[in-house]
Amino acid sequence: MRKKIVAGNWKMNKNSEETEDLLNDLIDKLPNDVEAQIIVAPTFVNLASAVDHLEYTNIIVAAQNMHQNENGAYTGEISADMLKSIGVNTVIIGHSERRAYFHETDTILAQKVTTALKHDMTVIFCFGEELKDRKDNQHFNVVENQLRDGLFHIANEDWEKIVLAYEPVWAIGTGETASPEQAQEMHEFIRETVIKRYGATIAEDVSILYGGSVKPENAKEIFSKPDVDGGLIGGAALKASDFAKIVEGI
Ligand code: G3H
Repeated sequence: MRKKIVAGNWKMNKNSEETEDLLNDLIDKLPNDVEAQIIVAPTFVNLASAVDHLEYTNIIVAAQNMHQNENGAYTGEISADMLKSIGVNTVIIGHSERRAYFHETDTILAQKVTTALKHDMTVIFCFGEELKDRKDNQHFNVVENQLRDGLFHIANEDWEKIVLAYEPVWAIGTGETASPEQAQEMHEFIRETVIKRYGATIAEDVSILYGGSVKPENAKEIFSKPDVDGGLIGGAALKASDFAKIVEGI
């Protein structure tokens, strides 16, 4: 069954004390009766305390990244096993900032997906076109290729651990949101792409989140579209009242 999900990607924001404050604020402000699964992704150093803090809530803690290898000489990196050992069972893979600034290719991302699934983790797999792709009318091709090269090696049964997050790069942190119609058009295309490779049941069941300048003012309309199952929120996830309003829009 397809789930509604609202996830907050805190990126490189909030120190330890600020993380605790934001979590307390979220516990206070998030609506209790919401059907959606709420996820927060603080930085690596604050994951363990976030897991402890949220132990008696329904909020899930996710990592923003992980390394594709099991362990070894990869200075500064974090493995799936390390995440699991502190109670983190969900990981964001393929965020456009990882692709752009840390040169994570589709091949590396495919390996990360495989490793995360091997550790029975839920993967929020991000992808999306850049502005020039959209201007060149290549956005559907780009998205199709990102799915094929980063994700479509997984087995049918792995899909219960996959959440898709479409994030047009031109809408991330820019204040420019894809219109609800643009989001729906792409989400429908994504579902059709999954149908072609894996069939209708898997495609109907997978949650597809939209990310890119989602705010309290635009969330409800974007979430109202039939193929938009929630959002991956950056900037607006850093303020509990804004995130709570976005959640209310689901
Ligand atoms: O992971 C979240 C996305 O990059 C969206 O970020 O809401 O600040 O545009 P944003």
